[in-house]
Amino acid sequence: MENLTDKKVLLIICGGIAAYKSLEIIRGLKKINFKVKTILTKSAKNFVTPLSITSLSKEKVYEDIFSIENESEMDHISLSRWADLIIVCPATANTISKLSSGTSDDLASTVMLASNKDIYLAPAMNVRMWEHPSTKENLNKLKKLWL
Ligand SMILES: Cc1cc2nc3c(=O)[nH]c(=O)nc-3n(C[C@H](O)[C@H](O)[C@H](O)COP(=O)(O)O)c2cc1C
Repeated sequence: MENLTDKKVLLIICGGIAAYKSLEIIRGLKKINFKVKTILTKSAKNFVTPLSITSLSKEKVYEDIFSIENESEMDHISLSRWADLIIVCPATANTISKLSSGTSDDLASTVMLASNKDIYLAPAMNVRMWEHPSTKENLNKLKKLWL
């Protein structure tokens, strides 16, 4: 099995109620010596704060694609290059939809479109959203595109 220590993980946190669980994920990844950089979507900021994330990850939290400060330090291309893998947790129906269509209108979606790394989605949503034909179609499309 592949050695999974000392990996660099880019964790993308979307705006779902399960966003609070991402804090536990950061803790778990740090425990096994992963480096964790985090992107928060605009909606995610309603559920978890950059302060709690940065306290756990000991890394800067990235939010805005047009932030001059972040761009000079690490733009969306170098952020995707830095990561060994990308985890989207929770992955909202909205972000899944954007991914499946190639929409890149914020930092999270642009980094994913600019990346050739493995992307792991942890979808979390209301059962009706999950069972909606659009969500099913988007996930099926991603399976075809990524496999
Ligand atoms: C209280 C609340 C809880 C939400 N929970 C979820 C959720 O669990 N899953 C989901 O897909 N969307 C959820 N949404 C809707 C998303 O926040 C909304 O679709 C948003 O545009 C997602 O943006 P993002 O994908 O850029 O993070 C919730 C919205 C609210 C107000």
